[in-house]
Amino acid sequence: MRSKVVEALAKDGFLLDQEAEEYILAQPTPLDFARQAISMLPEQPFIITMRDLRTVVHVDAPRLETLPRAEMPTVRRIGDVEVLRDITSHSECLASVEGFARYFQDRYFTLRGLLMRRMDMAGAMGIQKAIDPARQHGDGEIKVIGMVNEVRETRSGEKIIEIEDDTGKCVVMVPKDHKVNKDSVLLDEVIGVVGKLTRRDGKIILKELIRPDVPHSSGMEESDSTAQVAFMSDVHVGSNTFLEERWRNMIAWLKDEAEELDLRYIVIPGDCVDGVGVFPGQEEELVIEDIIDQYRALAEHLKDVPDNIRIVMQPGNHDMVRPAEPQPALNGEVGKLYDSNIVQMGNPAYMRIEGRTILSYHGKSFDDMVNGIKGLSYSQPLWAMKEMLKRRHMAPMYGGKTPFAPERRDHLVIEEVPDIFVTGHVHGAGVDTYNGVKLINASTWQGQTSFQKMHNFVPDPAKLVLVHLGTGKASVAEF
Ligand SMILES: [Fe+2]
Ligand SMILES: [Fe+2]
Repeated sequence: MRSKVVEALAKDGFLLDQEAEEYILAQPTPLDFARQAISMLPEQPFIITMRDLRTVVHVDAPRLETLPRAEMPTVRRIGDVEVLRDITSHSECLASVEGFARYFQDRYFTLRGLLMRRMDMAGAMGIQKAIDPARQHGDGEIKVIGMVNEVRETRSGEKIIEIEDDTGKCVVMVPKDHKVNKDSVLLDEVIGVVGKLTRRDGKIILKELIRPDVPHSSGMEESDSTAQVAFMSDVHVGSNTFLEERWRNMIAWLKDEAEELDLRYIVIPGDCVDGVGVFPGQEEELVIEDIIDQYRALAEHLKDVPDNIRIVMQPGNHDMVRPAEPQPALNGEVGKLYDSNIVQMGNPAYMRIEGRTILSYHGKSFDDMVNGIKGLSYSQPLWAMKEMLKRRHMAPMYGGKTPFAPERRDHLVIEEVPDIFVTGHVHGAGVDTYNGVKLINASTWQGQTSFQKMHNFVPDPAKLVLVHLGTGKASVAEF
């Protein structure tokens, strides 16, 4: 049997290291098991090791089962836009305690998989094993990966982090002068801990806190695409602060310049209309009170965009889909209002346009990030986006203002590193780069609202952020 399985896998293009081979051969149906496990790996290395397998299977479980992960949605292609990952039509929500447990299990295992790929996490083990006083750990250094349950500070200024994995819980003490004390550790983020076990009370003294993060890269390599994509968020049609005149200026500019610039795509990452009943007293700030009429008005506005520009529309927290994330695309009565050059996608979504991977997320979780990260404010969405990339999660904190749907898979994990990461929601505008990922916060077409005035927030509206898909260069046009 050994050679048959190994041969078949070699034909598939994979070799096994000894440990992985032994483990696979111990399964009831080794070849099926191996193929399924390999297909679930985020990247497929040439030599499959036990470490790779651990990212997708419960190795410590008494019966070796593959994790209950749903199949990745198949790629949908609409013209030149490929939808790589989107909850639309793939929802497998289970609204129960069990559903949430399954959701968090997926979040944990996916993020653990990303952490296990890091050299500095090699040798990580289950918490129970790591803190077992009967075990000797060489020089006493241990590595564990856990989801953060609790963070508190002691009177003497130490930080205490409680983490949990599928085998147990442990307490991590951050010494007073450690750099991590200046950092914000968020509830529910998944972290790697390198530390020393104290024999006396079984706590781990932190040496290093490791996040999954994105690897360093110099960014998009030049390609022969000549096209540009424009990011344009938070249109808020229906609001009395919708900036119609500046919208018209932008349309006139598109008609004059789009062809010359080869601007072929527009992505709208949510809050397409202002909606109804989103906040108390909203009706006083609406010029269109019916939400379908708001979408009708937006459809009219979008008809002015030159026909050869393909538009991607996604929902945000003001749109007419479930508020829980991931949100499916606008459909039904609303979807029918739009021309065929307009692609409806969920939030968040991974798409590929002319060879570039774009992750587009409305950004509702900014509302929680500003509470969880010391010093972060609504005017710094690009900083918040870096914090998301470090944690490889778009909404690391649970139980705040961002509602989650307990899907079978956590669609808010940043499993694949995109070329471009775009958000909206905070009505700012900006471009930055983090470890080679182009970060974009995509402005708004709504002026200052009474709520923003009350909170002294000044939006940065009526801008288009453009990215050249060949060179990766970004530019901003203001109207
Ligand atoms: Fe908005
Ligand atoms: Fe929003």
